[in-house]
Amino acid sequence: MVIRRATPADAAAMAEVWLRSRTAALPTVRRAHSDNEVRAWFRDVVVPQRESWVAEDGGVIVGLLVLDGSWVSQLYVEPDRRGEAIGTSLLNRAKMQRPTGLELWTFQVNLPARLFYEKHGFVEVERTNGAANEEGEPDIRYQWASRQEPKNLVNRLRERDDDLRPGDDAPGQSRPAFLTIPHFRGRTWQNICIRILFGIVRICHCGAFFSDGVVQQFGLFAE
Ligand SMILES: CC(C)(COP(=O)(O)OP(=O)(O)OC[C@H]1O[C@@H](n2cnc3c(N)ncnc32)[C@H](O)[C@@H]1OP(=O)(O)O)[C@@H](O)C(=O)NCCC(=O)NCCS
Repeated sequence: MVIRRATPADAAAMAEVWLRSRTAALPTVRRAHSDNEVRAWFRDVVVPQRESWVAEDGGVIVGLLVLDGSWVSQLYVEPDRRGEAIGTSLLNRAKMQRPTGLELWTFQVNLPARLFYEKHGFVEVERTNGAANEEGEPDIRYQWASRQEPKNLVNRLRERDDDLRPGDDAPGQSRPAFLTIPHFRGRTWQNICIRILFGIVRICHCGAFFSDGVVQQFGLFAE
């Protein structure tokens, strides 16, 4: 089996895998689009405009992965090929393509997919009642954060991602603060310097927070 980028010639087979897999996995979830709309979407949008990958075995498409920015937009395996690690191979490809992190939505009723994602390090971060998705089905947002990011840095940034605000802490409490240096934001040459500094973050307690490949924050931790 090989994992490779999809070409326009794969679009029709990808749509059929998606339709069979979706029908088998989610029989109770209403479909927002007809079969032909799905086929046209793969042909006109997914393959030409998204980062699409296929798992091919003996010349047959047996799974597909679609990435859209940091999102795993689609991950579907041929129903009678489930449990053969095809999904794992595709998800590993997604992690290689997006080493800084991934996000995805899955329906709450899709227990096998939830177990699969959780087994692969995805963590639930949000649940909705489905009012905002096309199917009207309750769903869950999962995130995967690469181990390449120092966890303590990320967690501390989440705790305190604003500029340093002295006096915030309750008396007697000592929490780390993050002093944002606004100058070091954006796509300019500073970005390159920050990437170098990021490599020594564990040592000197300075760091940068990236989103969509752009430095959003850079600064020093004050204990
Ligand atoms: C979810 C999916 C992509 C996983 O791909 P896969 O090739 O079947 O998964 P793998 O063989 O790599 O991994 C299997 C693991 O996934 C989980 N899993 C996958 N299918 C499962 C099933 N039918 N029942 C229970 N667990 C299942 C288990 O945790 C399993 O772990 P195990 O091997 O230790 O038992 C695939 O089952 C699929 O296409 N499902 C239908 C479409 C779908 O729901 N996509 C996700 C939409 S967000």
